[in-house]
Amino acid sequence: MRCYLHAFFLSLVFTFLSLLYVFSQLASTLEQSEQRSLKEHGIPARSSRDPPQLLRKLPGLEGLRQREGLDRCKSESVSYWNPYWRLPADVCGVNCLLESRERSGSASKGNTNERSHLAVVACGPRLEETLTMLKSAVLFSKKPLHFYIFAEDDLHNSFRDALDSWPRIVQTKFTFAIYPINFPKENAKEWKKLFKPCASQRLFLPLILKEVDSLLYVDTDILFLQSVENIWALLSQFNSTHLAAMAPEHEEPRIGWYNRFARHPFYGKTGINSGVMLMNMTRLRNKYFKNDMTAVELQWEEILMPLLQKYKLNITWGDQDLLNIIFHHNPESLYVFPCQWNYRPDHCIYGSNCQLAEQEGVFILHGNRGVYHDDKQPAFRAVYQAIQKYQFGENMETSLLQPLERSLQATTHTYCGRASHQFTKRLKQSIMSVEQDVPWGR
Ligand SMILES: *[C@@H]1O[C@H](CO)[C@@H](O)[C@H](O)[C@H]1NC(C)=O
Ligand SMILES: *[C@@H]1O[C@H](CO)[C@@H](O)[C@H](O)[C@H]1NC(C)=O
Ligand SMILES: *[C@@H]1O[C@H](CO)[C@@H](O)[C@H](O)[C@H]1NC(C)=O
Repeated sequence: MRCYLHAFFLSLVFTFLSLLYVFSQLASTLEQSEQRSLKEHGIPARSSRDPPQLLRKLPGLEGLRQREGLDRCKSESVSYWNPYWRLPADVCGVNCLLESRERSGSASKGNTNERSHLAVVACGPRLEETLTMLKSAVLFSKKPLHFYIFAEDDLHNSFRDALDSWPRIVQTKFTFAIYPINFPKENAKEWKKLFKPCASQRLFLPLILKEVDSLLYVDTDILFLQSVENIWALLSQFNSTHLAAMAPEHEEPRIGWYNRFARHPFYGKTGINSGVMLMNMTRLRNKYFKNDMTAVELQWEEILMPLLQKYKLNITWGDQDLLNIIFHHNPESLYVFPCQWNYRPDHCIYGSNCQLAEQEGVFILHGNRGVYHDDKQPAFRAVYQAIQKYQFGENMETSLLQPLERSLQATTHTYCGRASHQFTKRLKQSIMSVEQDVPWGR
């Protein structure tokens, strides 16, 4: 009897052990087949509801999704004894095993998921141009973005509809909020008149977006040729007195505008251009600015109106002139980034004068004075049209880069056309980098 019991017990243990073995085999088989299906579909199984042929072509976006998934996995340790199909869905995706394994590989990259905050002010006929700018931001960025879109009321629905119509997988890369144009009541009319309609809105962003720490403001005629997080990273290079970053208005004083014509103070030798403006708004709101109106230093919210009153008859470029006056008196507050971060026709129109763009390529293209929409600078228009025509999901090399290179070849009768290898140099790297993000290779 005793012996019988013993044998029974032994066989029980044996059965249990073999069950365990079968179980673990099953888990790893499932995992492998899932990996295979990921390879086939080019996507994590979690998003299998999305059309695979679209997703396969969006490697960079998938990379982002995967990294976002990693964060959600962090707090949960995963083992075979806690099979992944039993984990609560909101803790991890179904591919938790994959994610937790990958996590160790990417952990060294540190806090890589900080969102970049991008603001734009769009009025009048700027809808399409603004959407193309936002598209360029999404295309080359790996980290998530948040858009603050300030627009006239009749554009709100068009913005919302357009952004909501982008593929769902693209939408996972950004969030957005749409705001009405908003000026201090007392002088609303005067502010709206200043420069182009609504452009001076940007001066009030630190006061409107009170909860936002930092912001990248760009004009609607900006195109990103590399990821937004690269310019966002400049915030961490600010020293203790920097609170905003901009590029010089000109590289070449002989054709500079401010140094030849301005009837007001301006920053540095040739002034600054405010089309690409990176701000630490926490610092901006706290700073007391030296000025030429009173002996007292004034805060941002106090300085704008007196400045406008004093200089309104002398300023030509509106709010950019006001920024030039402010940073003329407070030069220690401005971080000046080089011209390839805000590359304009001025940099090539009479010959190439942005040296760093020659070496490193253009990072951010700024088609001011309407050059995306007329015949004056066909090289600038070519870049705009290439990005505008590109459809999400298409191969970026064959459907964006190659058509662009072809159309740039037709612009070599202009100086900017002859400098146009600078337009594609960084873009090429950005495209490669986004496509490299595919963990399973191509
Ligand atoms: C902006 O400046 C504030 C105050 O110095 C600082 O706490 C914050 O980290 C800065 N933000 C960024 C993104 O560097
Ligand atoms: C405006 O320009 C005029 C003419 O150049 C100059 O005399 C005047 O001082 C300027 N006003 C201010 C406030 O700088
Ligand atoms: C920060 O850099 C600016 C030049 O960009 C300089 O004028 C300023 O003195 C620096 N501030 C500190 C605290 O070193």
